[in-house]
Amino acid sequence: MAILNFLRSTILSKVVMAATGVILLLFICGHLLGNMQVFIGKETFNHYAQMLQSLGEFLWIIRGVLLLSLVLHIITSIRLSVLNNAAKPVKYRVTNYVKAKVNSRSMLLTGIMIAAFLTYHLLHFTLGVTNPDHYSHNEYYAENGFTVQGTSVTAEQLNDNPDAAHYIDREEIIVERHDVYKMVVLGFREPLIAVAYIIGVVLLGFHLSHAIQSFFQTLGITGPKFTPRMVQCSIIFSIIVVAMYISIPISILLGLVGGGV
Ligand code: HEM
Repeated sequence: MAILNFLRSTILSKVVMAATGVILLLFICGHLLGNMQVFIGKETFNHYAQMLQSLGEFLWIIRGVLLLSLVLHIITSIRLSVLNNAAKPVKYRVTNYVKAKVNSRSMLLTGIMIAAFLTYHLLHFTLGVTNPDHYSHNEYYAENGFTVQGTSVTAEQLNDNPDAAHYIDREEIIVERHDVYKMVVLGFREPLIAVAYIIGVVLLGFHLSHAIQSFFQTLGITGPKFTPRMVQCSIIFSIIVVAMYISIPISILLGLVGGGV
C-alpha cells in the first residue's frame, strides 16, 4: 500500500509533469516557427494566422489539449513542491550530477510569472482586450475565383462538372481577414509592451532550461558524461528559443520590421 501511495503521489506526478511539459515545449517551438514568418512579410504572416483560424474544430481540440496540459502542469508542480518540502528532513544519498541543482522554488516563481505573462499575452493578441486599437484591424485581399456563365463556382464544383470548364471565367473574390501582422507591429512599437514581452520570454528561457534538466533527472537519464553535456545543450537550446522570440519585438521596436504599417 505504501508503494502504491508513493506511485500515486510522486512518480505519477513527475510523469504528468514531464508529459505535459513536453506538450507545452512542442507548442512553444511550433508557435515560435509560426511567429518567425513575421520576418517574411505581412502577406505570409496573415495567411498563416488565417490558416490557423480556418482549422475550426481542430483548433479548439489543440487549444483544449494545451489548456489541459497547462492546468495539469501547474497543479502537479504545486503538489510536487508541497511534497518536496514535506520530505526535507529525510536525507538521501543521491549522486547529483547536475551541479546547479534544479531549484524548485525558482521554478515555481518563474512559472507563476510566465502564467501572468501568458494571461496578458492572450488578453492582448488573442482576445484584443488590453489594446483594442491594436486588435481591431482587418485587411482585404483578392482570391482567385471562377464564374461559369456569370455564376460564381468553387474549384470543387468545377471538378465535379468537367463540362462547365468550357464556360469558365476567372474572377477576383475580395476576402476579409484579421490583420494579425498590423496587430503585432502596433503592439511592439510601444516600448513598454515590447519590454514586457522580452522579460516574459527571458523568464520562459530560464524556466525551460531548468525544466529540461529536471526532465532528464526525473526519468533517471543521468551520467557523469551525459549530464554536463545535457545541461549545456539545455542552456544553448533555451538561449536560441529566447533569442528567436525576442528578435520579433526588438526588430519592430527598431523599425526593422513593419515599415509599411
Ligand atoms: C515575441 C513573442 C510572441 C509573439 C510575437 C506572439 C504572437 C502571437 C499571436 C499573434 C497570437 C494570436 C494569433 C491569432 O489569434 O491569430 C498568439 C497567441 C498565443 N500565444 Fe503567442 N506570441 C509570442 C510569445 C508567446 C509565448 C512565449 C508563449 C508561451 C509561453 C505564447 C503563447 C501563445 C498562446 C497560448 C496563444 C493562443 C493560441 C490560440 O489561439 O489558441 N506566445 N501569439
